[in-house]
Amino acid sequence: MFQKDLLQGKRILITGGGTGLGKATTQRFLELGAEVYICGRRQEVLAATEQELRERTGGKIHSRPCDVRDPSAVEEMLGIIWAEGPLDVLMNNAAGNFLARTEELSLGAFQSVIGIVLMGTLHTTMACGRRWLAAGRGGVVLNVTTTYTITGSAYVVPSAVAKAGVQTLTRSLAVEWGDRGIRMNAIAPGPIPTEGAFSRLLPRPELAEAAKKRNPLGRFGTTEEFANLAAFLISDGAGYVNGEVVTMDGGEWLQGAGEFTALGRELTAKEWEMMRPKPKKTKE
Ligand code: COA
Repeated sequence: MFQKDLLQGKRILITGGGTGLGKATTQRFLELGAEVYICGRRQEVLAATEQELRERTGGKIHSRPCDVRDPSAVEEMLGIIWAEGPLDVLMNNAAGNFLARTEELSLGAFQSVIGIVLMGTLHTTMACGRRWLAAGRGGVVLNVTTTYTITGSAYVVPSAVAKAGVQTLTRSLAVEWGDRGIRMNAIAPGPIPTEGAFSRLLPRPELAEAAKKRNPLGRFGTTEEFANLAAFLISDGAGYVNGEVVTMDGGEWLQGAGEFTALGRELTAKEWEMMRPKPKKTKE
């Protein structure tokens, strides 16, 4: 889909790069010539991903444990990265989520998810943004949000409010920092199977089948499709795309929102026939 050197010379940080969408995107960016730093909370997971992807792609990959909830840990990590050279791209992928009835959630549960998703994104974005602005050089930020920032969603309320904040941050800073060469966009993915997300969001396998049936394309998205969109959005070829949130969900959220969609699917062939205009009577 892309030329092999599309991301040659780009230095990129992907938060939560050790697993799931972050790992798949790291692999794609390495294949396209980028140098990639990954961070996450678990040293052993990062080290395993670093080794696996280096062997698989032959690319330049580095890993570092960092909890993005902690602003001083983020500052320290970026100080170390910048000592080796400035980043060109920041991808805020680290997230936390689980299904729960909101009235049963503790304050700590809200703080944990909002801390990772919203505050974590803010910490890394501010740390990179300030460095880019001080040096008078541009940069690119790619955030990962979700389709339910538009609609809200029951049972994932900490995630919904945090991701909505990230979406608003994306659009706000795209305007505020755009004149100084910093582009900021987001991807809003629908269901894409990864261990981290599906173990927390789909407790029974048959629910996955029902979710597929609900999707206009009748399937889930793939990590490769996500990584390709991410590669396009951070590339120089997308240089005029700024402040955009690109939905990638097979049309799932539109299907849920359309007033007559569910009703239309319930109708039988006979009922559709009844809805057709009757042939006009011709005058004798
Ligand atoms: N339902 C309700 N509350 C939950 C919960 C669940 N399934 N899982 C965790 N919590 C609460 C805990 O009880 C705790 O509350 P407390 O502080 O009042 O005791 C709080 O959330 C933090 O939990 P903890 O186990 O300390 O988690 P953490 O902060 O280390 O991890 C999570 C963060 C909870 C988001 C965890 O699910 C995680 O690590 N997720 C990362 C991967 C992920 O979510 N991927 C999906 C992306 S779509």
